[in-house]
Amino acid sequence: LMIVIDFGGQYNQLVARRVRECQVYCEIYSYKTPLEKIKAMNPKGIILTGGPDSCYAPGAATYTTELFKLGIPVLGLCYGAQLMQHLLGGEVKRADFREYGKTEVEFDTASPLFKGLKEKSIVWMSHFDYISKIGPNFKSIAHSDNCPVAAFESTDGSNLYGLQFHPEVLHTEQGTDMIRNFVLNVCQCAGDWIMADFVQEQIKAIREEVGDGKVLCALSGGVDSSVAAVLLSKAVGKQLTCVFVDHGLLRKNEGDEVEAVFGENGPYDLNFIRVNAQERYYAKLKGVTEPEQKRKIIGEEFIRVFEEEAKKIGKVDYLVQGTIYPDVVESGLGGESAVIKSHHNVGGLPDHVDFKEIIEPLRNLFKDEVRKVGLELGIPEYLVFRQPFPGPGLGIRIIGEVTADKVRIVQDADAIYREEIANAGLDRSIGQYFAALTNMRSVGVMGDERTYDYAIALRAVNTIDFMTAEAAEIPYEVLTKVMSRIINEVRGVNRVMYDITSKPPGTIEFE
Ligand code: XMP
Repeated sequence: LMIVIDFGGQYNQLVARRVRECQVYCEIYSYKTPLEKIKAMNPKGIILTGGPDSCYAPGAATYTTELFKLGIPVLGLCYGAQLMQHLLGGEVKRADFREYGKTEVEFDTASPLFKGLKEKSIVWMSHFDYISKIGPNFKSIAHSDNCPVAAFESTDGSNLYGLQFHPEVLHTEQGTDMIRNFVLNVCQCAGDWIMADFVQEQIKAIREEVGDGKVLCALSGGVDSSVAAVLLSKAVGKQLTCVFVDHGLLRKNEGDEVEAVFGENGPYDLNFIRVNAQERYYAKLKGVTEPEQKRKIIGEEFIRVFEEEAKKIGKVDYLVQGTIYPDVVESGLGGESAVIKSHHNVGGLPDHVDFKEIIEPLRNLFKDEVRKVGLELGIPEYLVFRQPFPGPGLGIRIIGEVTADKVRIVQDADAIYREEIANAGLDRSIGQYFAALTNMRSVGVMGDERTYDYAIALRAVNTIDFMTAEAAEIPYEVLTKVMSRIINEVRGVNRVMYDITSKPPGTIEFE
């Protein structure tokens, strides 16, 4: 076990992720965690993360110096490194210039931390303060033009190390190697931990926490909530009830697919409740055209429906959420300030559901790790590798008013599009792709007759983080085939367009 002590930096989960990539299990704890607790866990090594404070400022995050006397190797990163020097006789000062971005650093490859590395490479710096004087019993083992102590190690055999830069960020060229050197060579972790262990550990931890309590889960059928639900089901079986709200804005057949997997005839041990709320949603959305208002109605209605179902179940002890790490970051909450995300899928937590605690078993994982857990749990691949689907669903892929007929049109067109993308073998290589119904009708001709029908827009984007995106280049013959099938098979459509807008200035969704 490795322990990461969190000082509130923005890359802290990345640190944990890099350690997991070395096949070493690690957990993150706040710097407020008492030393006794850390000691009791008997870690093989400790990493102190970056953080926003200046270690010499009053009230700055700190830790007892006893930490460095446990005989356990410690690696400080950025703030963590500065704090170590500050506490152990060095000096940290404000720099004249903030050092930010890619910087070339020269390493002393005789240090165990840099063993086997190139002597010079690029690292990611992001700091105001710098180590102006190194403490006794330490020596500098790396420097850059502006930074005499870009890294240090202890000289008295106490196995203390610090890096002024961020090895966890991929911009740091040999960063992963440095973390691996620390974890495997300095701390001598075995490096044999795998996702299967994570699953077993989570199941055990959930069992311990839940006891014989009742658990409620809002299941959307997306990757995250599905994986969370299966994990819970493996842990506590029928103590878990999943409520799946079909809001009538799902992709074609999606409601039935979710039911097939999670319902009574599926493989999992849980109670499954499907609420068919289509009519209710369509009634609420009647006549509404403003995008934000549509989103709000869909979100609020979800809460109401969910609450009604929860009321029927009565008191529950726990509510499960499929929150994953990027959600935590997006809502501006570091692990240090553990608050629950106001679920941007569903517009907030239900106020009137009676529960004690929230369980978020995936809160420390990145999406690809969640998928690995899903595969480990035996969840069907089509669910595990599903592309993102927004909480408001087709409601934001139908421009203007939502009606049952428009939902049918966009569902059918989208199903054809997805089928042909899969036939062309592109389904795993395009980031996100879907059909949307524009609110535009235009004149066409079909079988010698005039038509006046809707235009479908096809969208496909490649993206790394969904914050920016570019339209994907789909082979023309695939597009043509999709066009002709949609026009022939979907009543009410006489025109198909391909959206080539990038984000920015466009967004991925239409509303
Ligand atoms: P935009 O349209 O903002 O979408 O470029 C970026 C990514 O977020 C997804 N998206 C949502 N996901 N609830 C969600 O869970 C939402 O309300 C929502 N709106 C957009 C979108 O599908 C894309 O992947």
